[in-house]
Amino acid sequence: MIIAGNWKMNPDHQAAAALLDALSAYTPDPNSTCKIVCFPPACYFSMANQALASSAVSWGAQNCHQEASGAFTGEISSQMIKEQGGSWVILGHSERRQYFAETDALVSQKIVAALQSGLKPILCVGEPEEVRNNGHQDSFTQSQLEKSLDLVAQMTPDAQKTALAQLVIAYEPVWAIGTGKVASLQDIEAMHQGLLQKMDALFGAHLPEAGVPILYGGSVNDTNAADILGLKPVSGALVGGASLKLDAFLSICRIAEEE
Ligand code: 13P
Repeated sequence: MIIAGNWKMNPDHQAAAALLDALSAYTPDPNSTCKIVCFPPACYFSMANQALASSAVSWGAQNCHQEASGAFTGEISSQMIKEQGGSWVILGHSERRQYFAETDALVSQKIVAALQSGLKPILCVGEPEEVRNNGHQDSFTQSQLEKSLDLVAQMTPDAQKTALAQLVIAYEPVWAIGTGKVASLQDIEAMHQGLLQKMDALFGAHLPEAGVPILYGGSVNDTNAADILGLKPVSGALVGGASLKLDAFLSICRIAEEE
């Protein structure tokens, strides 16, 4: 299980310090293999690294640039995240796709950059509401997956195996993000199964033995987490709003530890 908390462009300095302080004290169940990761805004990287350095919780970035360095005002490279002590990066989040015009081709480049720097990428895919209303959610989401992994598909078999061992996917239906409208358990299960089959068709024998983990994201909270995390093809959750509420987030982590 992986529980990832995407803070987005929240919280303020004081609240971030309080969250990090509490996360640094998190004592995992010694029998659990659950991974807990938080994704603070870049201005808190150094604070996160200090707070979490000797804790069970790791941290990552919400985005990175595809190049290693250069004249890209306002951007941060995967190498910089790594140097600051981060170990993960969220890529292709629907808010990046929607508000910053990120395409599958760009996300594909970012995935390669992240892997080259030694970061674990969480590749986000998911359909907008009108696509689901038209019944095209499977083809839409699977096409996003395929195109966002295009450069991984072009790697040599050995490089591909190494890349896929680091990759995590998140299925986040756009209409469920921040709306309180969580997808039904049947829909989550069906979408995750479809994505797993697509990964099999794309990468077959190069996949890790346990497969690539697929997280669900979209209005996950401490009330619905047990049911969602109990679904077989769900390997964790990408949590937005509830990751800013300490009690709720820690409850979700405890639920995941029991799975
Ligand atoms: P919410 O949990 O607030 O719906 O956000 C989900 C999300 O976008 C996580 O990346």
